[in-house]
Formats: sequence, C-alpha cells, structure tokens
Amino acid sequence: MPSPAPESSQQVLIIATGGTIAGTAASATDNVGYSAAQLTADVLVAAVPALAGLPIQTVQLAQLDSKDAGPALWQPLVATLVRQLSRADVAGIVITHGTDTLEETAALLQRVLAPGKPVVLSAAMRPATSLQADGPQNLLDAVAVARTPGARGVLVVLAGRVHAADAMRKQDAYRLDAFDSAPAGPVALVEEGLMTPLRPWPEGGSAGGSPDGSVAPATESKRLTLLNAVLRRDPAHWPRVAWITSHAGFDAALVDAAVAAGFQGLVLAGTGNGSLHAELEAAAERAQQAGVALRLATRCASGRVVGQVGRRLEVGRGSGPAQARVHLVLDLLLDGPPHP
Ligand code: SIN
Repeated sequence: MPSPAPESSQQVLIIATGGTIAGTAASATDNVGYSAAQLTADVLVAAVPALAGLPIQTVQLAQLDSKDAGPALWQPLVATLVRQLSRADVAGIVITHGTDTLEETAALLQRVLAPGKPVVLSAAMRPATSLQADGPQNLLDAVAVARTPGARGVLVVLAGRVHAADAMRKQDAYRLDAFDSAPAGPVALVEEGLMTPLRPWPEGGSAGGSPDGSVAPATESKRLTLLNAVLRRDPAHWPRVAWITSHAGFDAALVDAAVAAGFQGLVLAGTGNGSLHAELEAAAERAQQAGVALRLATRCASGRVVGQVGRRLEVGRGSGPAQARVHLVLDLLLDGPPHP
C-alpha cells in the first residue's frame, strides 16, 4: 500500500560529497562534457522548492567526482554518520554522491553501520544545468524516504526506485534509470512523495536506532569491531585489493604483478557463472598459495555466481564485483594484522 510522506519535526541531514548531482556544464544541452562536483549542498537544496520549510540541515563533507572515491572519503563519512545517527532529533540522512562508485560506498556503509534509521544515497545522471536534470527530483524523493517512519538501512534512490545497498548495480552508462537490483528488484517505489514498499527494508542494527531484532548479537559485535577498524586505520593503509576481469586472451602477468606488488586480495570477475580463463585460473592458484585472499564474481551485468562445481573459490558478497571488492577490503581489515 502506498504511504504518504509523514509529518515530522525531526531533521533530515543532507551530507554532500559531490557527483553529477552537483555538476555543471556550459550549456543546458551538454549532458556529457560537464564538470561533476561544483555546486554546494545548500544550492542543491535551494533548487527544490518543495524542500523549503522542511527541517533540513546540510553538511558539505567533500566535493569530488566519485570515480576518485576511496578510504579517504569513506572514513570521514562513516565518522560523520556515527555522530549524526545518534542524534534523537535526526529522522534520517541523505548523502548526495556520484553514481559511478555508488555501489561501493553503499555496500561499505551498510556493512559497517547497518543503520537503524534510513541512510539514503541520492545521485543524478544529468548535471544540475541540464534540460534533463534529474537531481532535484531524486533529492526530493531521497528526503521523502529519509522521513519515512520505520525505514532503515542504507538505501539508494534514483528515478523513483529505492534500492538496497548490496543488491543494486549501476547497469547503464547514460539512461536516467541507470540502476537495478537483482534478483528481487527494488525494496520500494517513491512516486510523487508516496512510498510503495515492495519488500522488507535492509537489516538495521543499533546505529542510530533501536535494534529491531533482525541482527544477531554476534553479528552486531563483529560489526562494531569492523567499525572500529574503519575509523582507526589510516586511509593510506587500507588492505590493497585488485579487481581483475577474466577475458579472451587473458595474460597472467597481471595477476603475478599484483601479487609481487603486495596486493592482499583479488576479486576475480569471471565470465558467465564465474568461469576463469585457464591462465587466470593457474595464476589465481599461485596467488592463493602465496597467501592472497580471493573472491569470485561474474563480469555479467546482472546475476551472481551460483553453484560452482569443484571450485574452491569463495563467492564475493554483494551483487557484483564492485561490492565484492569492498567486502573483501573489509574482511581483510577485520581479520588482518593490526596496522598503524
Ligand atoms: C560521479 O560519479 O561523481 C560522476 C558521475 C555521476 O555522478 O553520474
């Protein structure tokens, strides 16, 4: 059943990090030659008249094209979220972000925070100056989701669809409706401010809300250990994990070079259901024997590796290699030796 956006006096905090949603071009018909990350959070909010009068606070945390995202963004973002989620007067949080590495940031935040309140990533496929600008509507929809009672977890809102962090993938380079979730589809729709829930919200622990019982105490304790590691480890010294795609004519020198360079993990994006070129298979075996952690994913645009026969590789978490890489970084951060 659709539910109207609630009347709430609680704040929505908008944390801006850059992206196309804050991008500008010299002309309204230029949808590709623009500069991402130009406009501030306050300018983005002011461009949406329907947000006027709502209790909204803004924080300009970063201003970057998300292709350049990584631990140097994630660590202060997590620290800010921990602080802000604990505020009783905050109903939910919106993060404006580029679409290009939204999968990675969303997967990391869900695993590390599993928030009991909604943390909604909002983005756009067109710059703010475009005739087709989709940022203002996406931002309005994200705020509606962030104010929805009972919503929780890390969510991504684009083109009227609400996706769960680990299920979502950017599947199109240009279309406004660039994201999809597999296999079950989005968790909700948001249309003209009306929420239509389709599936349960992602699991939410105690970060910024009461535990709802969906997270086992052992899982919660592991999450807190991971959160501590994320907040403490110098961003320049997070585990090094490469993502290598199997392809026709594969040259194993790439894998051997990664091992020699000290990479601690490799995500192998196989063809189809995770099959690897024989050269890659052999090099992966050598890497594993040298102590490198491996995870398997598929290079297909959707779907996950299922039912490997006779293979010893662990399948990566999340819907694709982007999430699998972040999860392997976090696994190594959790299990690896302490680092200054
Ligand atoms: C970015 O990811 O920051 C630029 C591209 C986009 O937001 O679509």
